[in-house]
Amino acid sequence: MNLDKFIINGGNSLKGTVTIGGSKNAALALMPATLLASGKYQFSNMPELKDISTMSRLLEMMGVDIEKKGDEVRLNTFRVNKFEAPYEQVKKMRASIYVLGPLVARYGYAKVSLPGGCAWGPRPVNLHIEGIKKLGAKIEINQGYIIAEAKRLKGARISFDVSSVGATGNVLMAAVLAKGMTVIENAAIEPEITALAEFLVKMGAHIDGIGTTHISVEGVDALQPANETMIPDRIEAGTFLVAAALTGGQIRLEKCNPSHLTSLITKLEETGSKLQMGDNWIKIKSPKIPKAVDVTTAVYPGFPTDMQAQWLSLMSVAKGASVVTDAIYFDRFKHVPELIRLGANVELNRNTAFVKGVKQLKGAKVMSTDLRASASLVLAGLVADGKTEVLRVYHLDRGYERLEKKLKSLGAKICRVAGKEY
Ligand code: EPZ
Repeated sequence: MNLDKFIINGGNSLKGTVTIGGSKNAALALMPATLLASGKYQFSNMPELKDISTMSRLLEMMGVDIEKKGDEVRLNTFRVNKFEAPYEQVKKMRASIYVLGPLVARYGYAKVSLPGGCAWGPRPVNLHIEGIKKLGAKIEINQGYIIAEAKRLKGARISFDVSSVGATGNVLMAAVLAKGMTVIENAAIEPEITALAEFLVKMGAHIDGIGTTHISVEGVDALQPANETMIPDRIEAGTFLVAAALTGGQIRLEKCNPSHLTSLITKLEETGSKLQMGDNWIKIKSPKIPKAVDVTTAVYPGFPTDMQAQWLSLMSVAKGASVVTDAIYFDRFKHVPELIRLGANVELNRNTAFVKGVKQLKGAKVMSTDLRASASLVLAGLVADGKTEVLRVYHLDRGYERLEKKLKSLGAKICRVAGKEY
């Protein structure tokens, strides 16, 4: 891990074109899905991110051979011979839990560490465990590990009380090899889950209701490997749109999917930005000062919780007062004290932030605490007067590929200062 930091001199409006990378959260679901069938896989449009190498490392520990060439990742699952996900590896990234479903479905055994804490939490995995149990696995929790065993999983009706991206993905990957029919009620419909279901169908799975909250799966005895191209990362795209709105800029996004961003686009138009879009591009032209617009996060297609922190930065320089509520994660506000250090006027009351727009943020030294919080601090630095130092950008590197280079190419005054390795 390195202690790199970003130095940003605020004030420039962003102008130009930026290419959006492949979706981190689609890749983190499709990579473990390769455990469901032995053979060779080729994924393209893969982003080069810390989280992707963390998932690669975990799969390699199980015997998967992984080769990276540019934005292509080749996986070979012939030699999978270990069905464990150790704490030392899982604690680095919660999405590691995605190996649970495929391992128990294909090999009849999985020993996966509970994910442990995260910058904000708690982030329980009860829905994952209950879902896999419903499919007939014997599950015990022992010394921080989930141990799941099943001769052959059996189809079941699973209804989630809470819409969960990860639990839907895990149960879906288990159900495709279960014997008989599985119905998942209140399934997550995020684009990354749709991408996972479409990939599983390419592998030979029988899935109906893809993209809806009611998914039915007719289990099969075996699947085959398949190749896939990752969908664009909608949160990277959203982050750049907010960066343009923050700086009163005019930018064009290439290789993105506007249909995955409808709620954010609507909200940005309410702030006064003008947006045009095609199949795979978005153009945004923003006023100097955005209008204040309230937001409450929701499951897809609502306003994404992964855009809440970035929106807070935008509202901190908006004209007027706004209310930003995170209805998905009640305590995902570690960025608020740091934004206040930059001069933002934000009052937090449980999972609601009351923001009064200020004329000018002032550069300062701020600390990243988690992936999207650090993105919000970088965005605020783009518009803050003077110099902002964003520390511990290793959080950012988990989910944004070369963010400082892409922002610099849009005219931002930003550079990375290498910190010591440790
Ligand atoms: C996925 O996390 C994303 N990560 C997150 O993005 C994103 O914030 C989240 O979905 C919500 O959209 C990946 O896809 C790798 P959930 P996940 O299960 O699957 C509760 C980023 O920035 N819940 O949909 O872990 C949970 O506490 C990351 O890229 C349970 O109660 O999220 C939360 O309140 C951060 N029990 C709600 O459901 C469970 O067993 C939604 O969580 C599971 C979840």
